[in-house]
Amino acid sequence: MNTMINNLAIFTEGDKINKPIVFVHGFPFDHFMWDEQVKDLNKNYYCVRYDIRGLGASPAGGGQFTMESFADDLEMVIDEMNLSKPILCGLSMGGYISLRAVERIQNKFSSLILCDTKSVADDNEGKLKRAAAIKQINSGDFENFVQSFVLNCFGERYVKENKTDYETVVNRSKSNDPVGVKGCILAMAGRTDTTNFLKNIILPTLVICGSQDKLSPPAVMQVMADEIPNANFILVEEAGHMTPIEKPEAVNKAIRDFLLELGY
Ligand code: MLT
Repeated sequence: MNTMINNLAIFTEGDKINKPIVFVHGFPFDHFMWDEQVKDLNKNYYCVRYDIRGLGASPAGGGQFTMESFADDLEMVIDEMNLSKPILCGLSMGGYISLRAVERIQNKFSSLILCDTKSVADDNEGKLKRAAAIKQINSGDFENFVQSFVLNCFGERYVKENKTDYETVVNRSKSNDPVGVKGCILAMAGRTDTTNFLKNIILPTLVICGSQDKLSPPAVMQVMADEIPNANFILVEEAGHMTPIEKPEAVNKAIRDFLLELGY
């Protein structure tokens, strides 16, 4: 970790004079999920990652989070680190945070990358699933909750062919504080729907989706991309919900091509 700001663990790589990219990870992961992207991009971009409050090295505190407080944290990172018009890159829950931040303060960003995420809020069935997850964790079954949630995030092939890496991700996720994990679940259940704002996004946007993503399926992400006036949609074959981990070369190429075309 490079620094702690307001109890948020921040990790930076690359030269500060370069264009900044802020990466916002998914649930129930932490900043490590962007390792392959940062390895590839840090020579040309100033890469800023942080652990969402309650996950990884950012303490849960009281554990009462909202999507608004997560967007506040993102804004705080940008302000405290004096990042000038960063590129914003979010996956899944990180995408929910990014979309809400863009809805609130899009003039602070230069462009947007949305990976395996969606603008629609949880429907009743989704909210009930979140409630069941909290019940399971409260009954002492935290590890099984994490195990099955993470399994659902990956494409079958990745799990079969990358057992060691996959187990590392699972164990890392299990090491989170259950209080923080429950806080994130409640924040996701209570988030607003950002779909109506998509047509007002003026940022050049890249939308990346794994062809086997069960949580943010390609059909849903394609509709979202179609609503954003200046968006490119990239489908990554043979990947589930965790495209940056499952298919790093394809994701890195998509990001590089997008940024080069923008002249960054
Ligand atoms: C994530 O990857 O951040 C989560 O799957 C998002 C969700 O559960 O809605």
